[in-house]
Amino acid sequence: MGSALEAIGNTPVVNLSRITKDQRGTILAKLEFLNPGLSKKDRPAYQIVEDAEAAGLLKPGQYVVELTSGNMGTGLAIVCAVKGYKFVAVMSRGNSPERAKMMTALGAEVVVVDQLPGSVPGQVSGGDLELVEEATQKIVQELKAFRADQFNHWGNFRSHYLHTGPEFLEQSGHKIQAFCDFIGSGGSFAGCAAAFKDHNPGIKCYVVEPVGAAALAGEKISRPQHRIQGGGYSLPILTFVKPEWIDGFLQVTEEEAIASARRLAREEGIFAGFSSGANLAAALRLLRSQLKGQTIAILINDSGLKYLSTDLWPLNSYEHRPH
Ligand SMILES: Cc1ncc(COP(=O)(O)O)c(C=O)c1O
Repeated sequence: MGSALEAIGNTPVVNLSRITKDQRGTILAKLEFLNPGLSKKDRPAYQIVEDAEAAGLLKPGQYVVELTSGNMGTGLAIVCAVKGYKFVAVMSRGNSPERAKMMTALGAEVVVVDQLPGSVPGQVSGGDLELVEEATQKIVQELKAFRADQFNHWGNFRSHYLHTGPEFLEQSGHKIQAFCDFIGSGGSFAGCAAAFKDHNPGIKCYVVEPVGAAALAGEKISRPQHRIQGGGYSLPILTFVKPEWIDGFLQVTEEEAIASARRLAREEGIFAGFSSGANLAAALRLLRSQLKGQTIAILINDSGLKYLSTDLWPLNSYEHRPH
């Protein structure tokens, strides 16, 4: 390959047949942590930059700036390193420090914004995100930068509509009957759902949100802070997420997301993060209830390595003491 950018996408799909062995039905998992930045967000990063170049919105030497929970920023850091742009990532202090270190290693400048008083590290709320948004807007103006704007730039949607969704259909032998996805910007849900429904409008697509922060489902927000990093920001309206692509809403607890992420690691050898656990928990619930016997598609969003500093992975080691 000519550069790391060509290694983005075409990720493998694995049948989670060990986890589903006692159930009727199939869960197919697309391993997005095998992208160069160890997450699915390399895809929108690449597409947004390419689309901006094509539209003349991004010129050589210009700064790229983005608000990120870390994964989009890592994708952009990779794209900018290869293409020669300077990149500034603006991130909440509530996200895990591995992400800031990785972006810095890839040549990004990382601006870390303090959380609201009373907010908990590891739990980024919509309010915390507003502070990051303010800081991002200021930096974009100061640097006359191109704002990648993952919540509004259609390159995010297009990356999944043109690539992730069609790849998944093809790799499954066009057997996918349902899809459920934990929502941040909604880019991967909307892009994949649109691609799936273009192929077959009968493929059922479900939005996954944290319990207590299910804004798209129209639920009362009782718990905006949670540990499922990368999404669940309690935003009732998202640019890309159209009601006609939604067949239902599912809510998962942090505990379910964590337990499922640990099952992925121990039973399938797939080392992923909280939000991938949320997707698996939702898919298992669908297989146990209304979708018995069906084939459900989920994304494995990012690598478990991004959460080594959190309690997702407890240490279970035994000290060896020589006598
Ligand atoms: C780990 C993780 N999970 C889920 C999401 C949500 O994806 P999307 O923004 O496509 O809705 C993100 C987005 O950054 C993420 O980093």
